Amino acid sequence: MDGIDRRQALGAISGASLAAVSPAVAGAAPAKAGGFLWGAATAGHQIEGNNVNADVWLLEQLKPTLFAEPSGDACDSLHRWREDIALARALSFNCYRFSVEWPRIEPAEGQFSRANLDHYARIVDHCREAGLAPVVTFNHFTAPRWFAARGGWEAPDSPALFARYCDRVARAMAGGISHAVTFNEPNLSITGPWSRFQPDAKARAAMAGLMAAAAHASGSDRFSLLNGGDPTPMIANVQHAHRLGRAAIKAVRGDLPVGLSLAISDDVAVGDDSLVAAKRRASYEPFFEAGRDDEFVGVQTYERSYIGRDGPVDPPPGGARRADGKPFEPEAIAGAVRYAHRATGKPILVTENGIETNDDAERARFIPAAVAALDGARREGVPVIGYIHWSLLDNFEWFAGYAPKFGLVAVDRATFARTPKPSARLYAQLIRGRS
Ligand code: BGC
Repeated sequence: MDGIDRRQALGAISGASLAAVSPAVAGAAPAKAGGFLWGAATAGHQIEGNNVNADVWLLEQLKPTLFAEPSGDACDSLHRWREDIALARALSFNCYRFSVEWPRIEPAEGQFSRANLDHYARIVDHCREAGLAPVVTFNHFTAPRWFAARGGWEAPDSPALFARYCDRVARAMAGGISHAVTFNEPNLSITGPWSRFQPDAKARAAMAGLMAAAAHASGSDRFSLLNGGDPTPMIANVQHAHRLGRAAIKAVRGDLPVGLSLAISDDVAVGDDSLVAAKRRASYEPFFEAGRDDEFVGVQTYERSYIGRDGPVDPPPGGARRADGKPFEPEAIAGAVRYAHRATGKPILVTENGIETNDDAERARFIPAAVAALDGARREGVPVIGYIHWSLLDNFEWFAGYAPKFGLVAVDRATFARTPKPSARLYAQLIRGRS
């Protein structure tokens, strides 16, 4: 996709009974590491495979498509989730972040799959048995195809539909969940205009064409994804959906910590008249407001952004670089958590932080540097409650397919065999050293 960078592409594509949980695992506390959560994250569509009722699945299948390749079997985590949990445990994590897939739970409007709710409840229970606190994302970009074809998050009743889904998920598994994340990066469409990389006219037209084809294939005149479409109704509806979803979860289990995960870069002011405050007002603060009653803020950071008097500018010359010339900025996470805490006063859970690289030695340098920077922020008094690395597995990176590598663990595309990389062992040692 010429003219669209990785995070914009994400924005564009994206442009849910207590009695069922065994008392032995309900509400169990994280087992190790003094209560600080250490772990890695995944997302359903990116690892499970054959998520055929998802809006994104349809976009991958259309001809022509803008996806490098379809998600297909992904990492086959639909069947191999026990292996994933065993890996997390072997790597000494005390938490595992994963998402439940609304397209599987409500494959047709109003029809909830008991079997698929049970599936995710088993994952929650199994995490607890393995000593892992389950951090569960209720929406990681994907929604059911029927939902996108009726207007997605632009439809006025989308918050109520999300709340009904959250109620079902909460009733099936809230007792075992450690932290509930309603939405993953719902702010991408409003951070997008602050990126140095803007989609050109050709890329915008191609995206509009893909959405029109998806609408047509669905027998509808619309097709709308999270962070795609018209941000004006969408942002307000997602904010409302967060509040209603949170209320639905809290109605089932009032003491379950609930938050939102936001894409927050480490925004650096360039010059005295930098627009950095304007960027923050536009990109993050609407969601801080939506989450004002939340117990934590989920922070997801992959980069530093330099903001001058007219908006984004190039990184300054000098500074640490990667082999490909891109800035090497593991310390960015510390700037983002300082800001998020200052702006909200809330505890911060790092729900994603990582590096795309084929050279695992870069990841092995990145992790301790990021954690050391986070330690600095914690010493200053920022209440960081956990660090969750993206990602446990090399997985389906949306438009880019399987080429980009973010995983601590490599996955053989033919056999699905999982092989921890040296960076995974290093991360495990770091965690053990602190337990
Ligand atoms: C998203 C993930 C994605 C990762 C790396 C995050 O913005 O939440 O789904 O895979 O970035 O691109």
